[in-house]
Parts: sequence; C-alpha cells; structure tokens
Amino acid sequence: MQRAAAQVLETTEITPGVFVTWYDAPELAANAAPGQFVMVDPGWESGAFDPLLPRAFSYYRFRNVEGGGGGERQFALLYAVVGRVTEAMAAQRPGDALWMTGPLGRGFEVQRHARSLLLVGGGVGVAPLVALADQQVRRGRAVALCFGARSAGGVFPADLLPPEVEYYVSTEDGSQGHQGLVTELFAQHLSWADQSFACGPVPMFRSMASAVRADGLRRPVQILMETEMACGVGICYGCAVFTKRGVKLCCKDGPRFDLLDVYGRA
Ligand code: FES
Repeated sequence: MQRAAAQVLETTEITPGVFVTWYDAPELAANAAPGQFVMVDPGWESGAFDPLLPRAFSYYRFRNVEGGGGGERQFALLYAVVGRVTEAMAAQRPGDALWMTGPLGRGFEVQRHARSLLLVGGGVGVAPLVALADQQVRRGRAVALCFGARSAGGVFPADLLPPEVEYYVSTEDGSQGHQGLVTELFAQHLSWADQSFACGPVPMFRSMASAVRADGLRRPVQILMETEMACGVGICYGCAVFTKRGVKLCCKDGPRFDLLDVYGRA
C-alpha cells in the first residue's frame, strides 16, 4: 500500500455524467489487480481536508506505456459525478494531482481450472469487471459480461470492451437488449460459466444467490461488496460485513467475498 499524488493524464466522458480518468502514479499501479481499490482524497492537497473523508474507487483499467527507463503501468478510474469528490475529479485537468492510497483490499481470484468466466454488473459497478475482462481475455479465457441499466442511455459502450468479450445487455424499459433485470441474464448464462464475478447493489446479489441455489450445482460466484468506507485500511471498523464465517471488514478482508458466504440463506 502506498500513498501518492497521482497525476491526471486525460479524462473522457463515456456516457452522460460518467467519466474515465487516466492517472500516472506507478506506486499505485505497479502491483494492483482487478477488484482492488484506491482511496481518493481530494481534500488532502489543499490542506483544508474538505471533503474530510476519502472515497473508494475500484481500478477500472490498466495500460503499459513506454517510459524513459522502460515500461510503466498507468491506471484509470471510472466514476459517475454524484457528489463533491467526483465533481472534483471530473474538474481536474491534465497535469493536476490527486492524492490517493492504494492498492487496497483483496481483488478477484480466478480458479486455475476455470475456462469460462461470467461477469455481472451495472452502472459504474462495471469498473472492476472491465479490469478483470482485460486481464482474463489476455490469458485466453472465455469471458461474457451481463450488464444491466434502466435504459439505453446508461448502457456501458460495447466498443470499450475487448472484442473477445460476449456482451449481453438488459434494460428495465426495454430500450436496449433484454427487457428486464440483469439477474435474469445471469440466470440464463449461469450454466455456461465455470466461475462468476459480480459488482452491484445488494438486491442484485440477493437475486443472484437465489439463482445459484436454484441451479443446484452451486457454481462459485465472487462479489465485490460496496460499503461506506471511512479509512479503507482496517482502522475505523465502519465497513463490517456479516458472513457465514463471522464479521469481516469490507476494506481489509474484502471487498471480494463469496456470494453464498454473505447471501447464502434462503
Ligand atoms: S473502512 Fe475503516 S475499517 Fe474498513
């Protein structure tokens, strides 16, 4: 874990109100893996500590660039502008600095024998799934992504995914793809997958747990939990998650958990 001032490289608005910013901070990128996160702290730079608390963001993407002394790894974050931290992030310009701490938490763990991976998410919850898709396509695994949105305007653009990824979309109003919930797509494709990975809201996880129980084979599903995190490093005890194995800290023991460890009860 490192604390560093990440330098802003470029920012793009990929759908209305949703941004991708690339950062240069080798300390934060070098050993980071899909499913891990950074705590972003825009109040630190000014010394005013306003906003007071940092906010957690999953790594969205990595890239290697040629530098003077060899290759250098950069990373990107995906975020919707919903409050003061994300407003500050979107307002930064290339060359500006943003203090962050990372990489934090336990990321996704792909089983060695798994060949077919099913990813499930919606909104900016897709961020760690894209990082995982990039990594696993490169490693030769088959990857399918089920993405859910309210309507077509909120759908993650297909052309930002590796072309090898099978992409299934659901919208609640039926304006694109399957009309309904992303968990219906998950249930349809569950039998194809050796292992599944998800990031999203609690009702989505509950519905996925029902589908896994109904499937009978109890195929492994890893989820990334999103809880309020004040410190991100296991100090404040504000991010407790109740699991079959006792109370865990989302920031330190997670954010990756087994779906049925958390939502296993009928
Ligand atoms: S966020 Fe402080 S203990 Fe997890």
